[in-house]
Amino acid sequence: MSTFSCSLAKSRPRMVLFLTLWCSVTLSMMVGWSEAKARHLKWDVEYMYWSPDCEERVVMGINGQFPGPTIRAHVGDIIHVDLTNKLGTEGVVIHWHGIRQLGTPWADGTASISQCPINPGQTFTYRFVVDKAGTYFYHGHYGMQRSAGLYGSLIVDVPEGEHEPFHYDGEFNLLFSDWWHQSVHEQEVGLHSKPLRWIGEPQTLLMNGRGQYNCSLLPNFGNSSSTQCKFKGNEQCAPQVLRVLPNKTYRLRLASTTALASLNIAIGKHKMIVVEADGNYVQPFAVEDLDIYSGESYSVVIKTDQNPNQNYWISVGVRGRQPKTPPALTILNYKKIPSSKLPSISPPITPAWNDYNHSKSFTKSIFSLMGSPTPPASYDRRLLFLNTQNRIDGYIKWSINNVSFVFPPTPYLGSVKFGLKNVFDQSSPPEDFPASYDIMSPPANPNSNTGNGVYKIDYNTTVDIILQNANALAANTSEIHPWHLHGHDFWVLGYGEGKFTKGDEANFNLKNPPLRNTVVIFPYGWTALRFVADNPGAWPFHCHIEPHLHMGMGVVLSLAVDKVKGIPTDALACGHTADMFLKKKYLP
Ligand code: C2O
Ligand code: CU
Repeated sequence: MSTFSCSLAKSRPRMVLFLTLWCSVTLSMMVGWSEAKARHLKWDVEYMYWSPDCEERVVMGINGQFPGPTIRAHVGDIIHVDLTNKLGTEGVVIHWHGIRQLGTPWADGTASISQCPINPGQTFTYRFVVDKAGTYFYHGHYGMQRSAGLYGSLIVDVPEGEHEPFHYDGEFNLLFSDWWHQSVHEQEVGLHSKPLRWIGEPQTLLMNGRGQYNCSLLPNFGNSSSTQCKFKGNEQCAPQVLRVLPNKTYRLRLASTTALASLNIAIGKHKMIVVEADGNYVQPFAVEDLDIYSGESYSVVIKTDQNPNQNYWISVGVRGRQPKTPPALTILNYKKIPSSKLPSISPPITPAWNDYNHSKSFTKSIFSLMGSPTPPASYDRRLLFLNTQNRIDGYIKWSINNVSFVFPPTPYLGSVKFGLKNVFDQSSPPEDFPASYDIMSPPANPNSNTGNGVYKIDYNTTVDIILQNANALAANTSEIHPWHLHGHDFWVLGYGEGKFTKGDEANFNLKNPPLRNTVVIFPYGWTALRFVADNPGAWPFHCHIEPHLHMGMGVVLSLAVDKVKGIPTDALACGHTADMFLKKKYLP
């Protein structure tokens, strides 16, 4: 139709202007659909030597880079990654954190859940659509490969010709992580030992894979007694400086893929306006500093309206655990002066690690942008998840309703789809916990059980989850846990102190709760969330602290898996699903 009208225009000069306009409008409307690009990437994952914090260690890199390459796409694009495992002796998968994988649950990249680990030497193709603009990232989801450095950024822009609901002149992307000098293999053995050998606090905080261990941009800042760094600029651990022009607006995309640390970022003299959280727009609000937990992402905008004859520090500090890691530093550089000129104002001090009131007031200031989807007024099913630290045969574990999760060898997507009964616990795990449980004291009976049963969720039902925090094994200890859901965003309906009661429902925010994929539970508190189970698949919901997940802190939701179509057979070439294919292959 538009082709016909457009060619007609050639023979009628007076109509040309009008029709040209009309044609380009029509075409650009079509572009949204037809110009969706397939972004074809070929990635090799391998171990390599790298110096993320100026000390050489082994990291997991992609195509010789650490962090892995940044994926940049537009809404509607198809991401096509041919991932080749070049590790010597272990499997690998990559999870696209925050991408809901609508209709492609087999591309979620979770070992034991959506697929088999890719064997050394083999290639697996991830193919999925990015359907929502925002700041995302990707990371390993097998063993502790995220801690080994298998991660990178994934940025989705609004469709070409459309605009974000806020203005900016330029942008920066900062992916935060934490780094240990001990290898992940040793960390993993320590976590599975009796007595437990805890990984301890990270040696270094990294921004875009860069940090400084044996030196500091500002000696003695944050009690580290290190000497002044001397950089030529091309070192792997040299900080990424943010170079800005005065009187402009910049968007900073912040995401955290830390293994353990909760973080806070502050920029000297510059307020940040929060505009996006986990790929969803929020009601803009201004902050001096911002908390970010593992698994979360934010966009903030800043105005470069300060004295342009100076540089400013950006600092990132640890929250929620007594820090033994010095704050990370980099520089906001007003371009007219050299970036090597150290700021004359000292770095902003991020809030005290245990100032929970500060964290709570930040978290409770997040509301969805007007016009965002709102939650159904009531739920069909409610799951109450008690978070406890436990023991099993003297090993320390984390449990949900007294079940500590262990990964089965056959991926759920296959075992549920094909009705294999003997490969995971067929009974449903507990949906709540005894009302008499005292969340303020260490568990009276710390012994829990391992399990790998799934919560069966009916298609299109509205599910509420109440996450209930409690005292850990040691007295007067309750930790922060950032919980992350795969396959869906959820509304955060509320937070509270102590034990959740039926009466707390009255205070749920049903008007403008933020949509997110990761949410924190504060010490001794609860968090309530709601989602509509409309994306069939096998979806983990877990604490995003890597060692906690490894010690059992997660559950799996099995959601209308019978509706899942088109699982590539190589996603299921392990465990009992592999047996099944083999049998099929040789049947008459
Ligand atoms: Cu970013 Cu299941 O994790
Ligand atoms: Cu946790």
